[in-house]
Amino acid sequence: KILILDFGSQVTQLIARRVRDAGVFSEVYPYDVSDDFIRSYGAAGVILSGSHSSTLEGDAPRAPQAVFELGVPVLGICYGMQTMAAQLGGEVELGKVREFGYAEVRARGHSALLNGISDFVTDEGHGMLRVWMSHGDKVLAMPPGFKLMGSTESCPIAAMFDEERRFYAVQFHPEVTHTSQGKALLGRFVHEICGCKSDWNMPDYISEAIENIRQQVGSDEVILGLSGGVDSSVAAALIHRAIGDQLTCVFVDHGLLRLNEGKMVMDMFAKNLGVKVLQIDASDQFMGHLAGVTDPEQKRKIIGREFVEVFQREAGKLSNARWLAQGTIYPDVIESAGKGKKGQTIKSHHNVGGLPETLNLKLLEPLRELFKDEVRKLGVALGLPHDMVYRHPFPGPGLGVRILGEVKKEYADLLRQADAIFIEELRNTPYEGVVVEGTDPDAAPRNWYEATSQAFAVFLPVKSVGVMGDGRTYDYVVALRAVQTQDFMTAHWAHLPHTLLGKVSNRIINEVRGLNRVVYDISGKPPATIEWE
Ligand code: XMP
Repeated sequence: KILILDFGSQVTQLIARRVRDAGVFSEVYPYDVSDDFIRSYGAAGVILSGSHSSTLEGDAPRAPQAVFELGVPVLGICYGMQTMAAQLGGEVELGKVREFGYAEVRARGHSALLNGISDFVTDEGHGMLRVWMSHGDKVLAMPPGFKLMGSTESCPIAAMFDEERRFYAVQFHPEVTHTSQGKALLGRFVHEICGCKSDWNMPDYISEAIENIRQQVGSDEVILGLSGGVDSSVAAALIHRAIGDQLTCVFVDHGLLRLNEGKMVMDMFAKNLGVKVLQIDASDQFMGHLAGVTDPEQKRKIIGREFVEVFQREAGKLSNARWLAQGTIYPDVIESAGKGKKGQTIKSHHNVGGLPETLNLKLLEPLRELFKDEVRKLGVALGLPHDMVYRHPFPGPGLGVRILGEVKKEYADLLRQADAIFIEELRNTPYEGVVVEGTDPDAAPRNWYEATSQAFAVFLPVKSVGVMGDGRTYDYVVALRAVQTQDFMTAHWAHLPHTLLGKVSNRIINEVRGLNRVVYDISGKPPATIEWE
């Protein structure tokens, strides 16, 4: 196994992720673990992460000296390289200019790490790497025994190595995808240099996670707010696997869920998996508080507040619960790292704001080291249906932000039906777009639902005139929204086939009494947002 020491970089978990991708078990620990811990850990190799700190500050974080005395390979990344240099007798220079972004590194020397790895070869025959840099300080003089492994114009010592002691260090970040050979480089480190086999996989991860959960909670009871979303669902399935009936899930129906969502969640968890789920129908409470409210922010606040209220009320009834489980995943974990000198007390964002403090429960977050795609793979490995695990995200306030202005049950009912038709047709329409060469064929979209990142209907509380049969209608409008995005910060509207849009429109108008017009939203984000409120 590989030990990763975290100096507080925002991308430390990405290192762990890449090592997992290489099929090797790894764990992240704060950099200031003791020498004894290092000696007893049994690492086949150690990776030192980046940091926001400077090695030149008085109390700059240092790797435990034992790391360099273990006799196992060590890879320093960015700050990890600088502290390696500083601790082994080299010299680090205070950065005058920050170097941030794309760079080309010329590979030098003949190291086991970069052997055979390059992006292109220059006319002079130099192997070059396209990398991503983010640093201010740099190594000015290598420690005794080290040789140059790479350089850029502005950073003459961009990588160094000591093959005898098997110490390697790179100023750039191999863990980010912008470093195109990063995966290969980390793969070489863990396989060739550390001698680890590719034998770690999802079932192993599940066993370890289960063991950790059991150790953490002992015989205590745990509650979890189940939303039906991917993260809370996977967390519920995992925790249930670990502690069975010690877990109670609370599923709050605020009356703003999608069609059949409640039934789907209950069938999946209560029936199929045998999880204890309390289904709380709080729709009257939510609708009551939302009556007459039209301001989007106020609606969000009310929904959030009532959610906490209901959850708290139900949780209070479970007198033995000592833990609150949440499906927090790594991208939710707001940096901590780097702000303070130590940077390992990571704060998490609470999906259900404010709950932990008021309930006096300890937090159980078994997914907090995983990325979304890993959570999905974990869900499938735990037996959750593929379609559930690969669903589009659904906002906490639910249909409340998809009914413009005042929320009414009548509107929600119309919207639910229209939305279900849209989603069904997206799933049923094969996607025939180009599949980018080199991408994972298993991940290639099979239908338009999979080819979009988020799609839904929006209820517009305005009436327009239509004609149906011989009669005049005067009914409401729905807008369809479908977007494609990587990170949901920016998004393009999806170019859905006209035949698909036509079919959805026909079906909605014919099947949903009360709607007589369908429009398609062709706004990008920015300037529009994905949700309408
Ligand atoms: P916008 O509308 O800001 O949405 O472009 C970006 C992404 O965030 C989701 N979203 C929410 N998710 N609680 C959530 O859990 C919320 O209050 C919320 N508001 C927006 C939205 O669905 C989209 O995926």
